[in-house]
Parts: sequence; C-alpha cells; structure tokens
Amino acid sequence: MFCAEKRENMTLEQAKTKLSDAGQEHLLRYYDELNEEQKENLLRQIEHLDMELPKMVENGVKEAERGVLAPLGAITLDEIDKKRECYENSGIQAIQECKVGAVLLAGGQGTRLGLDGPKGMLNIGVHKELFLFERLVGNLMEVVEKTGAWIPLFIMTSEKNNDDTVSFFKEKNYFGYDPRYVFFFVQQMAPSVSYEGKFYMEEKGKVSTSPNGNGGWFVSLVKAGLLDQVREFGVEWLNVFAVDNVLQKIADPVFVGAVLENKCVCGAKVVAKADPNERVGVLCLEDGKPSIVEYYEMTDEIIHSRDGEGKLLYNYGVILNYLFQVDTLVEIVEQHLPLHVVEKKIPYINEVGEYVKPEQPNGYKFETLVLDMIHLMDNCLSFEVERDKEFAPIKNATGVDSLESARNLMKKNGISF
Ligand code: UTP
Repeated sequence: MFCAEKRENMTLEQAKTKLSDAGQEHLLRYYDELNEEQKENLLRQIEHLDMELPKMVENGVKEAERGVLAPLGAITLDEIDKKRECYENSGIQAIQECKVGAVLLAGGQGTRLGLDGPKGMLNIGVHKELFLFERLVGNLMEVVEKTGAWIPLFIMTSEKNNDDTVSFFKEKNYFGYDPRYVFFFVQQMAPSVSYEGKFYMEEKGKVSTSPNGNGGWFVSLVKAGLLDQVREFGVEWLNVFAVDNVLQKIADPVFVGAVLENKCVCGAKVVAKADPNERVGVLCLEDGKPSIVEYYEMTDEIIHSRDGEGKLLYNYGVILNYLFQVDTLVEIVEQHLPLHVVEKKIPYINEVGEYVKPEQPNGYKFETLVLDMIHLMDNCLSFEVERDKEFAPIKNATGVDSLESARNLMKKNGISF
C-alpha cells in the first residue's frame, strides 16, 4: 500500500553547512527575524538551490564554443508566393482538423521596458486602448475567422505575473476568444547572483528568483499537465511566439502548410537582415544540424561571406516565431539546453535590510532559450517573411524595436490604434 509521508525540510544546521561550503552564508542573515512559515520557506529554497550556478560566473562569463557553421538557405518570399495557394490550403486543412496550437511566451519580465507587470498588459494604443495581449489575440482571431476553427492557445506566464495575466484575460473577456480554448501555465524560476557570484535575496526570507528563460516552455507545459490537453485536441504542431511582436501572424496557414509540405519537423520565420551587422540570431547549420547563432558568435568573415551572386550567405535572422512538431518535442523533452548567463538589473535586499532597485545591471540571471531547441531538431524550414509586415517587436523604451517604431509599422500596415 502507498503511504503518504510528510517530507521534512532541510534543518537550519544543514542549511548552514550547505551555504558555508559555498560561501553563501549571507542568505541566513535575517533568519532570526522571520516567522515560522518564512523560515520554513527559506530553508526549502536553500535546499533546492543549485550551488553550481554561481561557479558559472566565478571567472567571468564564457559562452559555449560554436561548432562548424555552414549557411542554410530560406524559402524566400518569391518562392513562397509561387506556392502560396498550395501551402495555404494545406495549412488551413491542418488548422480545421485542430492539428495546430499556439503557445504565447509571456513569462518574461520586460526589464528593458522597465515594466513591473506582464508585458502583454502594455497599452500600445494612442486614439483608443489597445493592449499587446489584445492585439495578439486579434491576430490569431483573423485565422480563426478565415478557417472557421478555434486554435487552442496556451499562455506561458511566470510566478511573478501569472495572477495578473489570468485576471486581465478574464476581465477583458479573453478579448473575444473562446475561453474553452485558452490555457495558462507557469514557467520555472531560477536564482540570480551578483557579479561576485553571491545569490541575491529579494526579501529577508526569500532568495531572489526570476523566470528561467523561454527555453523551458515545453517542459513547463508538460509539468502543468497540458500535454494531455494537447493530445486530446489532436494538436500535432505548436506555433511558439513572443508577446511583444505586434505585427506577427500566429498559426499562419501559409507557414504551417510550408512546414508540412516540405516534410520538416520544425519551421522558423525569418527576415532578411537589414545589413550584415544587424544584431540578430541567424538561422544556419552548425555541425550539420540547424542552429541559431548570435551575431556576436560569428566572425567578421562569416558575417560578410557572400554567394556567387553577391547575396549574404548568413542572411536570415529569426523573429521568435517557430512551429514545432509535438512528437519531436516529446522525444527531446529530456535533453538539456545550454544555460545562458545574462546581465540584468536585479532588485535585492542589501546588508542593512533595505530593498534596492538598481538603475544599472548589477548581476546575472540564468536562462535557457527557445532558439537553442532548433539545434535539437533534425531539420528546420527557414521561412522568409516581410519585415515591415511581420516584425515589430517592442523591446526598448525608445529607438530601435520600441513602442515608437512598432507604432510606425502598425500605421504603415493600416492598423488603427
Ligand atoms: P525577451 O528575450 O525579450 O525577454 O523575451 P523579456 O524577459 O521579455 O525582456 P527583457 O530582456 O527582460 O527586457 C522574448 C519572449 O520570451 C518570453 C518573453 O515574455 C517574450 O515573449 N520570455 C522570456 C518568457 O516567456 N520567459 C522568460 O523567462 C523570458
């Protein structure tokens, strides 16, 4: 017979040993001021802390070395145009058979925008209210109207923004989407460290944690029990997309059809680079497998290499809109993605117990990225889209990829806001 046993927390003594072995004793600095529940929570957090993480930054941050790179061509706008009808019909059929779901990555914190709440709650309108979430749901709705089929929408949130996100959708009546097709799930968190590798605390009884990057989306979806839901619907393909690109097409039938017709296990929407040095991740081959390589990981020679007709060989940047085959995702779910160390502004409790909100980056977060999943795939269809029609991300407060640039592009596309 199965006996449920109450699992004991790590004791204070055990926590002290674990922390002093790693030079992290400061996490217990305020222990005596905490109530019983806070003490228990802190000990639980310490028990699960990965002491290997600070070691990643001890001697400065090094990104993993890249393998041998080779170009990967995209199906271009012209080629897509020639086969548009065939691709679109195939995509529409898959959507009508409920084989396509959408996954909105909305667990990020939008630090560059200085946001406290969910980024999707940003009002991007001028003459009327238009929230990012609303705009994205509206984009998806266009496909629902075209195909006459609801597309299951899975929304990844984080512990920090889940409640606000869920209540916002409820309050706004899901922006007209059918709530029976909307599912929320919460992503995992990871601790943050100072430049010296000391874990930060966000409260006197709480180690500072933040969302662990968008790479864990499928693991989190499975942990939340939603794979059963995916299977129940008969969804075979998941279109993963970011919260901040106001122009993107979601569950785009032409894109879905192109991936299906080309018998690929995944696809990535890409744009031709604005100039060779543009700071985008480029979809290419690495050691013979598809891979997304960041601009700073490429040599000048690679960045500027051209084919016989003078076209850039590494020309296609990703826009965080991917289509993955569910069966393949299930096969790779146990595989580890590389851990990236990212400099961020991390609010913390200082040595005298005050809460500090830094103006400048003051440490590191640890993240896995969805783009690294591409390297786990046997193939990936690189699918070109028109930048001015499908790529208007809001990342920064001003300038490139900002609310201002996104509004200009919305105007250009005849969107009223
Ligand atoms: P970004 O790379 O722009 O990160 O996310 P961010 O956290 O939103 O913003 P900054 O860097 O702190 O300013 C790309 C997409 O991945 C999602 C974001 O919500 C966005 O849709 N994301 C990012 C997650 O879902 N979880 C994460 O942990 C990080």
